[in-house]
Amino acid sequence: MSVAESYRPEAAEASVLLGGASHDLPIRRGTLGPDVIDIATLYQDTGHFTYDPGFTSTASCESKITFIDGDKGVLLYRGYPIDQLAERGEFMETCYLLLYGELPSREQYQDFRKLIVMHTMVHEQMARFYTSFRRDAHPMAVMVGVVGALSAFYHDSLDIHDPEQRKMASVRMIAKMPTIAAMAYKYSIGQPFIYPKNDLGYSANFLNMCFAVPCEEYKVDPVLARAMDRIFILHADHEQNASTSTVRLAGSSGANPFACISAGIACLWGPAHGGANEAALTMLQEIGSVDRIPEYIKRAKDRNDPFRLMGFGHRVYKNYDPRARIMQKTCHEVLDAVGHGNDPILQVALELERIALNDDYFIEKKLYPNIDFYSGITLKALGFPTDMFTVLFAIARTVGWIAQWKEMIEDPLQRIGRPRQLYTGATERSYMPIEAR
Ligand code: SDX
Repeated sequence: MSVAESYRPEAAEASVLLGGASHDLPIRRGTLGPDVIDIATLYQDTGHFTYDPGFTSTASCESKITFIDGDKGVLLYRGYPIDQLAERGEFMETCYLLLYGELPSREQYQDFRKLIVMHTMVHEQMARFYTSFRRDAHPMAVMVGVVGALSAFYHDSLDIHDPEQRKMASVRMIAKMPTIAAMAYKYSIGQPFIYPKNDLGYSANFLNMCFAVPCEEYKVDPVLARAMDRIFILHADHEQNASTSTVRLAGSSGANPFACISAGIACLWGPAHGGANEAALTMLQEIGSVDRIPEYIKRAKDRNDPFRLMGFGHRVYKNYDPRARIMQKTCHEVLDAVGHGNDPILQVALELERIALNDDYFIEKKLYPNIDFYSGITLKALGFPTDMFTVLFAIARTVGWIAQWKEMIEDPLQRIGRPRQLYTGATERSYMPIEAR
């Protein structure tokens, strides 16, 4: 099957030539990025499926939320460049923007923050969930379980067809994720849970719930709170990545929003995705010193060695991940603030990046540092253990998941997602009794 493109100004179409017959497929043009060939009628017209494992050339939906230009290293949230939002905005403002499509007015922003603040506590009975986990359970295992269980407590925000219930579920998810995450951390270190404080900002409140203890006053360092807020902005959304696609697919069946977010958390956990920040720091610690870098670069280039440079490469970015630049800057700020400005791990990271960016293998394959390369060092300097890194990613990405889920539910053309396959298994055969096998 070959696809020949015949562009006609009035109506761009692609023609599929198959078995001597030509089938026209409309080409749709977005506001930014590649055009798409609409193949919705391909199977009924030609009896053929398309085949694209990993979806390297497949657009799964239409969206107005986030745009990425992988070749230019551009990331826009509702049209606003990520560096402007991260440098000049706040995470709560980015949440409003992703959910509603516009930056809030002062009054809208005040109302939104007040709404979120009023939902930061979790049902008191949820605290009992944690005691059912081993103390050494990975916090992502706890997050998958506890977030999914929210649907057992908040029955008044499960009807996805009721806009008000959708809004309440969205607010509760965004408001409660830091609380649930902080409780998972406290439980893992055997300390009592710290309740949210309504007079603190979103990120400062999260740091307080993680690092305060009941027996003394805890003052959140504003430099660290600002860094946390910026890290949340950087991780908030990223188009149709694996976990967002998981949330969309789960939501397309009509599953309640808490269950969909729990599915997204499960997918994010993977080391090829959100788990890469944890894996990247572990890798840097394993390398340990600058003189051992060449050995690991050699392994990363060896196709027979499963080792990959964690925090490097990206399905979409074939240029520097714009978030990685801001994360590197934030990393230096945090390390300076906590007095680890010359952390040997940072020196290893900087030298590894320098070597890799000048190595033909990485240049040819367009492998650049991604957001996870520097985030691990930064989060460790903020005081988090490695196994909490992906949990922090999940807190930030919750607003992206919710915004994408909301967009899908509100799309009148939305249907249950149900991909087909290329079947290469056994053809039909008859059952053989065990005596005859
Ligand atoms: C995130 O999708 C998103 O937007 C995700 C994310 C988000 O915000 O949601 O941006 C967050 O997940 C960032 C990515 C974090 N993952 C890692 O850092 C893990 C290490 N990176 C790789 O596993 C890989 O680069 C992926 C998974 C990120 C991308 O995989 P692809 O697009 O399927 O690319 P690939 O694995 O086919 O790699 C292409 C080539 C291969 O070599 P060849 O088979 O062509 O010879 O590049 C090589 C790979 O072997 N390669 C690497 C490499 N990444 C790819 N070689 C060494 N080290 C690496 N890190």
